[in-house]
Order: sequence, then C-alpha cells, then structure tokens
Amino acid sequence: MLHMHVTSWILGIILLLVAFFLYKQGNEKGAKIVHMILRLMYLFIIFTGGYLLFDVYLANFQMPLGAEAITKGLAGIWLIGAMEMVLTKTKKGKPATSAWVQFAIAFILVLVLGYIRLPLSF
Ligand code: HEM
Repeated sequence: MLHMHVTSWILGIILLLVAFFLYKQGNEKGAKIVHMILRLMYLFIIFTGGYLLFDVYLANFQMPLGAEAITKGLAGIWLIGAMEMVLTKTKKGKPATSAWVQFAIAFILVLVLGYIRLPLSF
C-alpha cells in the first residue's frame, strides 16, 4: 500500500506539471485531459493514504506517532487542494503565486513528516 501511495503521489506531481505547462501554452484541450487524469490520481492518493492512516496508525493509536500521522494526512489533503488551486487559477489566466506558496509549504510538511518523522519506508 505504501508503494502504491508513493507511486500515485509521484505521478500526481508529474501530471500537475504537465497540465500546468499545457495550460500556460494555451493547449486547453490537452490540459483538460491531463487535469482529469490528475483528479483520478487524487482519489488514489487519498485512498492509499487514508488506508495507511487507518490501518497502521489509527487502528492501534499511540502518541506521538498517531498525531503526526493525522497531521501528515491533513497536510496531504492541503497539498492536493493547493495543486487543484494552481491549475484552476492558471486555467483562468490568473496569477497562481499564492497557490504555489501553499503548494511549497504543504509539500515540505508532507515530506518532513513522511520521510523524517514517520517510520514506514521501503
Ligand atoms: C499529494 C499528496 C500526498 C503526498 C505528496 C504524500 C507523500 C507521502 C510521503 C513522501 C510518504 C512517506 C513515504 C515513505 O516513507 O516511503 C507518505 C506516507 C504516508 N502518507 Fe502520504 N502523501 C500525500 C497524501 C496523503 C493523504 C491524503 C493521506 C491521508 C489521508 C496520507 C497519509 C499517509 C500515511 C498514513 C503515510 C505513512 C507514513 C509513514 O509511516 O511513513 N498521505 N506520503
């Protein structure tokens, strides 16, 4: 499940960048398709992350790891929100700086909690 989680978020970041540059180039049709695939990927990320959260941390709740895992999940949801905000703002031709700032903060939180604090890895 961890493998699927990592695969889906890496694919998600790649799809975000591809959709972003397609919108920037004015390739509305191509960007829309990639954006739809990215939305499907959000579901995979949330399902695999949610499964890990319940299976590993909430089923046998222990502090402080349980709280850190919940924070990791919330930061992951925030990151997905920021990714979606980046694309909708870019699509409308509006500046996406605030969305990119949120993306950067949430991404750092997720990486620090996922790789440095929480114990699972492969
Ligand atoms: C785009 C969004 C997300 C990104 C980039 C992301 C990234 C990561 C990373 C880097 C790890 C560590 C992998 C490893 O140690 O090998 C991880 C693990 C994990 N993620 Fe996510 N994640 C995201 C969304 C979510 C969501 C939405 C949830 C919960 C609903 C979640 C829950 C978890 C859990 C419980 C773990 C296991 C923690 C551990 O022990 O290492 N993630 N994720």
